[in-house]
Amino acid sequence: MSDFKRYTVTSALPYANGPVHIGHLAGVYIPADIYVRYLRGKGKDVVFIGGSDEHGVPITIKARNEGITPQDVVDKYHGIIKKSFGEFGISFDVYSRTTSETHHKTASEFFKKLHAEGKFIEKTSEQYYDEEAKQFLADRYIMGTCPHCNNEEAYGDQCEKCGTSLSPLDLINPKSTLSGSKPVKKETKHWYLPLDKDEEFLKQWILEDHKEWKPNVYGQCKSWLDSGLHPRAVSRDLSWGVPVPVEGADGKVLYVWFDAPIGYISNTIEWAAAKGKDWKPYWQDKESKLVHFIGKDNIVFHCIIFPSMLKAHGDYILPDNVPGNEFLNLENDKISTSKNWAVWLHEYLVDFPEKQDVLRYVLAANMPESKDNDFTWKDFQARNNNELVAIFGNFVNRSAVLTQKYYDGKVPALGELSNYDKETITELESIKGKIEKSLETFRFREALKEAMALARLGNKYLADTEPWKVVKIDTVRVETIMNISLQITANLSIAFEPFLPFTTEKIRTILNIDKFNWEQLGATDLLPAGHVVAKPFLLFDKIEDAEIEAQMNKLLESKKLNEAKNSVATPAKAEMTFDDFTKLDIRTGTILEAEKVPKTKKLLKLLVDTGIDKRTVVSGIAESYKAEDIIGKKVSILLNLAPRKIKGIESQGMILMAENHNGELGFISNEKDFNSGSVIS
Ligand code: 2FM
Ligand code: ZN
Repeated sequence: MSDFKRYTVTSALPYANGPVHIGHLAGVYIPADIYVRYLRGKGKDVVFIGGSDEHGVPITIKARNEGITPQDVVDKYHGIIKKSFGEFGISFDVYSRTTSETHHKTASEFFKKLHAEGKFIEKTSEQYYDEEAKQFLADRYIMGTCPHCNNEEAYGDQCEKCGTSLSPLDLINPKSTLSGSKPVKKETKHWYLPLDKDEEFLKQWILEDHKEWKPNVYGQCKSWLDSGLHPRAVSRDLSWGVPVPVEGADGKVLYVWFDAPIGYISNTIEWAAAKGKDWKPYWQDKESKLVHFIGKDNIVFHCIIFPSMLKAHGDYILPDNVPGNEFLNLENDKISTSKNWAVWLHEYLVDFPEKQDVLRYVLAANMPESKDNDFTWKDFQARNNNELVAIFGNFVNRSAVLTQKYYDGKVPALGELSNYDKETITELESIKGKIEKSLETFRFREALKEAMALARLGNKYLADTEPWKVVKIDTVRVETIMNISLQITANLSIAFEPFLPFTTEKIRTILNIDKFNWEQLGATDLLPAGHVVAKPFLLFDKIEDAEIEAQMNKLLESKKLNEAKNSVATPAKAEMTFDDFTKLDIRTGTILEAEKVPKTKKLLKLLVDTGIDKRTVVSGIAESYKAEDIIGKKVSILLNLAPRKIKGIESQGMILMAENHNGELGFISNEKDFNSGSVIS
């Protein structure tokens, strides 16, 4: 690895408007954590920065939906997110928030310097304004008809039906989601970062000087650069955020994508202050390597906009690499917070207590490194049972149990080596280089496979050498076999430290050892003869079918609820006029008699007092009501429906019913209990 004096590793700051799920973990935080743990193991000077992104429209929308303030929203979710990361062993050196005082100050000063040096363009443009709510409307606060697919519920920045990126001015019939009123266009002034001026610089820096970036990241940058860059507004008319720190900018805040990446710097400042260190070298010294871990939706901000900001400022280094991942799907569907199609970290730990490493393992093995990838519960179970339990856990357990059994827990001495022992040791020694090469090129799945190859090596070694048989004929040979097995086990505690930190801690407990450093990986003298190991316990346990079924049922429940929500929410029928409506003669009525229609599941034959006559109506309500329970029920009845024969019975009208998402029916009744025949309109 090209040697740097220090490492500044950042991971995207998640919006504090909801808890975190497996997509976040697989895309950003697990790769970042693996990388950082590896660097620390090598004794590097590294700072790992995390934090919550607490500004921007996603937060204000959540606050509106929940009827609370944006501050309440971020206070709640910052705590939940921070706790989840801690529980999954994401080893941030600092996890702060963009509402902190330090951040407001850092972001303000950054803006002020660029402003003072004339790095921005000031432009006045027309934007939508809600005259009732008396505010400019962020793109997400405007809805209207998509000009591409006619979806009537497209947002001002995107149509979620056809996926097209939009500008609010593209929408047909725009409406403010704040007041429902039609917004008007009004002039407003903003500050713009002239990205176009950096186009040539960025082309050289990314497309020529950083050809080693991951193809998915490089490709997205190339496509942005090929289509030409334009000045980008870095302020917004909003009340939630870092106020624009110049005269005459009342009611304006920094655009969330301007302030959030500066959050990495603010959080480094907080960390350094707490540690009594100087933060500057981590961001300003050329011998520091800056790496941003992000998801694919953040690529343009970290590869083009933030570097352009850092360059404009002048004091900062630029990222050396931006290992962006694609997205993780769940059971073949996009993870969606609003549809509750997700595995939430805090819920996972309730269902699978202490199984953080199982999830870390499965997510690292399925990391969406070069394309979107899928998480399935079946795969989760298979990887746990067939890999972690059957190979890794089995090997460590056998080694530890046999050491207790044959030597009372004392590591036996290494004797003469067979050819097979030598081959095994050569293999063991080669693994370090392979894992390193993969990790340094951000190929985490491959790195995990290499680490797993070590567990497979150990498992195969024990299975092939069969010490439980050899012990009956050659006890000296068994000492060597067990010594080698225990050395491999100790090596596993190093190789897996970046990936499965809870498990490596357990291995250290079983072997009764302290943490080794990464450079010791491959050594065959980690455990001296005579060292006493502790009583073994299982590293992993089998996950049963019933546990997986329970998770699948949980997801199915979400799916059903969503389908129901959508079917209620979607306007299903074409508009009609008031005249059309007045054609309906709907009255209150009373059920006088009811009986099941023979050979049908759903039908009841009713005799209804309509106030003007008594008539027969056949109604499909038998799955929701028993005939005997509804005699005397007050109902609403449509009288002037043309009679029709149902199962040979003439039905003269229709009883109005409400239907819930489970298909259950309920009568529409009049609150005041009016007499039969009262008109409903
Ligand atoms: O996409 C997101 O969730 C953003 N909150 C990421 C911000 S990363 C950084 F710039 F802070
Ligand atoms: Zn559309």
